[in-house]
Amino acid sequence: MGDDALSNRVAMAVHDRFVAVNGDHPMTAEDDAYARQHFVAATPEAMALMLEGRLPLPAYVLSDGTPMVPEAHGRSAEIAGGIERLHDWFVAFWPDDPATAEQEWVRYLSGQYACLSEEAPVRIKQMTERVAEAAAAVDLLRQDAHDPIARGMLGEAVDGVLGVPGLDSLLRPMTAYDRLRYGGPTVREMWVDSPRAEFLAPVAPTWPLRTERLVLRPFELSDADAFVEAWASEEWTSLLLSRPRNPAEVADMVRRRTEPGDGQFLGVAAAHDGEVVGDLMLQLQGTGLSEGEIGWSILPRHTGRGYATEAAEAMLRLGFEHFGLRRIVANLDARNDRSAALCERLGMRRECHKRGDFWSKGRWTDSYEYALLREEWAAARA
Ligand SMILES: CC(C)(COP(=O)(O)OP(=O)(O)OC[C@H]1O[C@@H](n2cnc3c(N)ncnc32)[C@H](O)[C@@H]1OP(=O)(O)O)[C@@H](O)C(=O)NCCC(=O)NCCS
Repeated sequence: MGDDALSNRVAMAVHDRFVAVNGDHPMTAEDDAYARQHFVAATPEAMALMLEGRLPLPAYVLSDGTPMVPEAHGRSAEIAGGIERLHDWFVAFWPDDPATAEQEWVRYLSGQYACLSEEAPVRIKQMTERVAEAAAAVDLLRQDAHDPIARGMLGEAVDGVLGVPGLDSLLRPMTAYDRLRYGGPTVREMWVDSPRAEFLAPVAPTWPLRTERLVLRPFELSDADAFVEAWASEEWTSLLLSRPRNPAEVADMVRRRTEPGDGQFLGVAAAHDGEVVGDLMLQLQGTGLSEGEIGWSILPRHTGRGYATEAAEAMLRLGFEHFGLRRIVANLDARNDRSAALCERLGMRRECHKRGDFWSKGRWTDSYEYALLREEWAAARA
């Protein structure tokens, strides 16, 4: 038998094994394109090792019969110190649970971890842990969508935290073929896309918010005129992050704020008796989108009347009650006495004074971080 005939036979045998594991489902042109983009064709040597049950079966088999494997298909065997050591190296990741270790080894060899960006035991463990965490979080959030522990768990499971990768980075995008072979939604759809849409996509509040004297509402293009003079002033902008802006830049800033975004940045105009007096922002951020950063500016001729306090109180309420935030912070240039006084009036706590950490307008300056927890805010109102 010639080399080609032999490798065709091996490829067919690999295909048969693949079908035995995954079922006989069609690969569409899109599925083929996906597999070509993310995987490489298996070498004849790798195919022989697959048939001996020593390397994982292909992740996909293209519609033309080509078995596709991750680019780093043999990497674990190298790290293990040779293919003969791969099994023992692999199961050592579950030292206290040999039964699970062996089950995982079988699943690994069957190519079922094609969903992972890196087909390695440490990633398999992380994925299993993160899926369990996401499932527990979803159960809790269905009872209370603002539960802070559940928000933390879901944030960690989906997006990860420092030192802990989340499912979004652990999993590949996957393709329609995967729905067929796994008989339902893909693991990414189940534990990244769906909980993200249900619990991590902010629901816009009903605008406007009304306070005793103010109306807080989304920006309108015509609001730009109100801000032109203040933004032209070096003095007014001196303690802001941004530099002064000319009228075109102000119009552009306002236009951008009128455009729909991901719902995580809320920029609003504050108006009194129909006249714009300032603006506020609330940026949703952090693990499980459970933290907010608040910011404010009041136009010079409207300061000293308590408008900033009144509007910021409404934004804090929005953050804690509507978005279920756990904590809201404000970051400011430490020279900004009026902003610091506003934080204190709002009951926020100065949590840190960072020395020389903030580069602004040609110099290093100190900054403050103020913060308020939801329970502190609620206790102050009880
Ligand atoms: C920071 C900033 C928003 C603070 O504005 P502010 O006018 O000091 O704050 P308020 O609107 O809450 O007004 C409070 C003042 O109004 C007085 N006041 C008058 N009538 C009032 C009323 N009915 N209710 C409450 N306070 C009233 C308060 O006594 C207080 O005065 P004081 O500072 O002399 O004690 C404003 O200085 C600003 O926009 N600065 C430029 C932009 C900026 O730096 N933004 C922050 C970046 S971190």
